[in-house]
Amino acid sequence: MLNPQLRAVLEGMPKAELHIHIEGSLEPELIFALAKRNNVSLPYASVEALRAAYAFTDLQSFLDIYYAGASVLLQEQDFYDMTAAYLQRAAADNVRHAEIFFDPQTHTARGVPIKTVIDGIYRACQDSPVSATLILSFLRHLSEEDAFATLEEALPYRDKYLGIGLDSSELGNPPEKFARVFARCKELGFRLVAHAGEEGPPAYIETALDVLKVERIDHGVRCLDDAALTQRLARERIALTVCPLSNVKLCVFQHMGQHNLLELLDAGIVATVNSDDPAYFGGYMNDNFIATFEALPLGLSHAQRLARNGFTAAFLPPAEKQKFLDEVDAYFAAAAV
Ligand code: ADE
Ligand code: ZN
Repeated sequence: MLNPQLRAVLEGMPKAELHIHIEGSLEPELIFALAKRNNVSLPYASVEALRAAYAFTDLQSFLDIYYAGASVLLQEQDFYDMTAAYLQRAAADNVRHAEIFFDPQTHTARGVPIKTVIDGIYRACQDSPVSATLILSFLRHLSEEDAFATLEEALPYRDKYLGIGLDSSELGNPPEKFARVFARCKELGFRLVAHAGEEGPPAYIETALDVLKVERIDHGVRCLDDAALTQRLARERIALTVCPLSNVKLCVFQHMGQHNLLELLDAGIVATVNSDDPAYFGGYMNDNFIATFEALPLGLSHAQRLARNGFTAAFLPPAEKQKFLDEVDAYFAAAAV
């Protein structure tokens, strides 16, 4: 059992969430409500039956259900309601800043206009007290040509998202498949990130850095298989957006006691804690912190370091970043007495 004082510190500390797929925040209850509102039929009889299907063996077994869940999103208000629900839940966990992925291709492939997707998500961000920005993510199981077409469609709304990411089925879809479209996104001035080293090998982390020129790596936990890469990530201060509950649910680690978060920190890496797809993996930010601190020998100094890493790695203007870092330090100074 986690020491109640440490638990309270984890719950109350100011947080940045840098790795959350907004479609992964759709709770089963909201999936059913939206299905009813939009007359979409689901292959599950009830909320309980849907939840019972959340027994994943690997990334692909999750993605199949995640894309099915997103099929209920049709109108701008649906995207708004999903995002507003996430931000409200995040605020309850003392998340002060969130950088939110959205997967436009999941929706445009079903005939939903990209404007509907972006406007709904963006409007909810504007209405929230949480500082929230958006990262448009390409699906790597689709072609680079499809990513280019999506970028073209999204460019009229470019003031509403600041970054570009890469997600979906990692194995067999290496970063270099998207070299040209990422080069174009860099030219356009977007901040760049990519999922790499979740299930894929350390080589995918290297090509995400060297070919795609990303600034952060999403997951990246498999970097420890390569000592030179581990040292490079630490030296170049390339942040990893680690998602502990996700890693256990998708069997990247067999149980939380095997998670390598502490090794990453001990190697000098700017590791952060995030929820990935909280509705599917059994928890939001505080659940992720509590589960990791319960299973691993982590203490107050690690908590402060992880909270600081989140804001340090955020795509925020320097003054805003400093304001949040000062807030973290003041919180821990008060917690220590
Ligand atoms: N899309 C949503 N969650 C993901 C994950 N954990 N890895 C890759 N793609 C995703
Ligand atoms: Zn992810």
